[in-house]
Amino acid sequence: MAIHYEKDADNIVTLTMDLPGRSANVINAEFGQAFLDALNKVTQETELAGIILASAKDTFLAGGDLEMLVALDTPETAFTNSEGFKAQLRRLETQGKPVVAAINGAALGGGLELALACHHRIAIDNDKIKVGLPEVTLGLLPGGGGVTRMVRLLGLQAAFSYLMEGKQVSPKEALSAGIIHALAADRDDLIAKAKAWIKERKSAKQPWDESGYKMPGGDPRRPEVFQMLAIAPAMLRKRTYGNYPAPEAIMSAAVEGAQTDFDTASRIESRYFAQLATGQVAKNMISAFWFQLNSIKAGTSRPAGDQAGTKKVGVLGAGMMGHGIAYVSALSGMDVVMKDVTAESAQAGKDKIAKLLDKRLSRGKMTKEKRDEVLNRIVATADAADLKGCDLIIEAVFEDRALKAKVTVEAEAHLAENGVFASNTSTLPITGLAEPSANPENFVGLHFFSPVDKMPLVEIIKGAKTGEYALRKAFDYVLKIKKTPIVVNDSRGFYTSRVFGFYVNEGAALLAEGMHPRAIESAGLQAGMPVGPLALLDEVNLGLAMHIRDQTRKDFEAEGKTLPNHPGFAVVERMVTEFKRQGKAQGAGFYDYPVDGKKRLWPELQQHFPAAAEQLPQKEMIERMLFAQCLETVRCRDEGVFTSTADANIGSIFGWGFAPFSGGTLQYINAYGLKRFVTRAAVLASKYGERFQPPASLIAMAEKGETF
Ligand code: NAI
Repeated sequence: MAIHYEKDADNIVTLTMDLPGRSANVINAEFGQAFLDALNKVTQETELAGIILASAKDTFLAGGDLEMLVALDTPETAFTNSEGFKAQLRRLETQGKPVVAAINGAALGGGLELALACHHRIAIDNDKIKVGLPEVTLGLLPGGGGVTRMVRLLGLQAAFSYLMEGKQVSPKEALSAGIIHALAADRDDLIAKAKAWIKERKSAKQPWDESGYKMPGGDPRRPEVFQMLAIAPAMLRKRTYGNYPAPEAIMSAAVEGAQTDFDTASRIESRYFAQLATGQVAKNMISAFWFQLNSIKAGTSRPAGDQAGTKKVGVLGAGMMGHGIAYVSALSGMDVVMKDVTAESAQAGKDKIAKLLDKRLSRGKMTKEKRDEVLNRIVATADAADLKGCDLIIEAVFEDRALKAKVTVEAEAHLAENGVFASNTSTLPITGLAEPSANPENFVGLHFFSPVDKMPLVEIIKGAKTGEYALRKAFDYVLKIKKTPIVVNDSRGFYTSRVFGFYVNEGAALLAEGMHPRAIESAGLQAGMPVGPLALLDEVNLGLAMHIRDQTRKDFEAEGKTLPNHPGFAVVERMVTEFKRQGKAQGAGFYDYPVDGKKRLWPELQQHFPAAAEQLPQKEMIERMLFAQCLETVRCRDEGVFTSTADANIGSIFGWGFAPFSGGTLQYINAYGLKRFVTRAAVLASKYGERFQPPASLIAMAEKGETF
């Protein structure tokens, strides 16, 4: 039984959601039928005081079943499905007797939508419980009445951040926002309060069904609301560049719905939902952020078996990366020893951690006790002997082979038995770095991204000798610090830096061809990348980019190969050697960085890279930037750099911000259609060079009608 039915002596019926065989309640066909049956039964009760909706699981109701959702093939079926369930919710809220949602755990998406169809909402006061409508983050719209009811409950403007940004809040915050009505201490208190509320009244109506109802903040005809709505679409476009249909559809459904009666609004919402749910962007985002992310977390790329669990982490280097790694480790409950050359530099790293913790404290995300506890878990030292007993040591010293070799040998001596040594190198092959190690089986790459406290990905690199135990340990550690691990084989630039390079170099190549720098930057943003390619090169540092290229060229030569020339290289080289402009850190790169103002493109840029008579259309530039990355990803796949599509897609989005709406580098090709992609790549290759040549493997897949 997906819903238990229980009537007490006071004629209060409690419907307890408990979907069999699932860890969380989700809305699927079985649930829908159970809900309908329960509703039919309850409306036939001759003596009914009221209804409580509760859950037997840890969560209240997790929302729509995405497996079912992705199977929806036409907008018509999506519309009918959505309308069917919504009709039941409408029945629930209009049958007359009071209905209370007893929210014991997360009420997200469809879970909150169900609660919104109840007259009264009480939640257990636990900050871990989240309430919200995250549909937009999967390219969807809350199509179970969420748009219609949130707008009527909070007003257009206040509802927007929940609907269009997918903001999730704790019960306390939900209470002050007016999304729920009361808090309870625990499950017993929750049910007691729900019953008490029912007993206080004979009937109940939703505010929007009361005569004389007025929308909070006013409906769209009110001048203040009208003014806000006049600019809202433009502000949204500025953020999305038109790549995300969901927030646009949500805004339309909300505003159009606000001007009609409830049932019409609800139908408008279903129509927008149906369009989104069967559209490409939702497919891309659900596949990446739901199915692939879950498969990564479930350990698809993790070798099976146990490992001892990481308790004490050593971090070598208290610099930009080191202090971040120490911070996230301590925050996740591990003891940390952070070693730098001097006690002062180690302490400086710890001071930075204290600042990060203070920020959490000031935002109310942490108590003072917790802050002190986390900080006290970190020992800052200059003495390698303090590393004694660490079962995982991560080095984040300067990017220098000899130095890394030295600290490896020094620190390994203090590793606990069967401990693992990891390097956070960004460019040096792990196999080589493992050479000085006494135990290369237990040597692995853990490539973090900057800033460590914010970036969600860690790339785990498997050297030639890295054993499965080390991989398991690294994988579990990354999950423990609440980040997403992808597992890649040792290769120049691993996966992320290697492919990312093709984005920024394409930007530089376009500059060499005489495209306007502003058009290039804007094409990058329109492509869905977080920052334009030239600005990114400035951030990475042009000197560093040149150094990496030189090193890669040497590595190629050592293997008897030549590094293919990229037209972007020459631009970077001129910037560094001829114009002495290395990037943001030096205050001068493709941009100027005035101390007292916003960065602006270097005015002389166009003088040195004169404009071509004919400027390429934006679409061509956008495709070049995206294709260059996707094609390099396919080459990585051919070389076995990664082994799962999920790792490639998630790695691209979380690692360097590859167009999230596309679902990642390989999904971009799927969505484009392999045949079409191959044809287009060949055209780009004939115009712009070898780097666009579609690999044979891709041509073969296209011919066989396969996808990634
Ligand atoms: P950083 O210069 O901020 O910090 C390096 C720290 O190592 C300094 O505090 C230095 O005093 C310390 N150090 C030097 N010799 C030491 C020794 N013998 N024992 C202990 N500590 C020692 O450098 P950053 O940016 O933190 O980079 C560290 C490593 O992380 C490098 O290998 C870098 O390539 C890699 N990396 C950097 C990223 C970035 O965005 N900065 C991203 C990913 C990896």
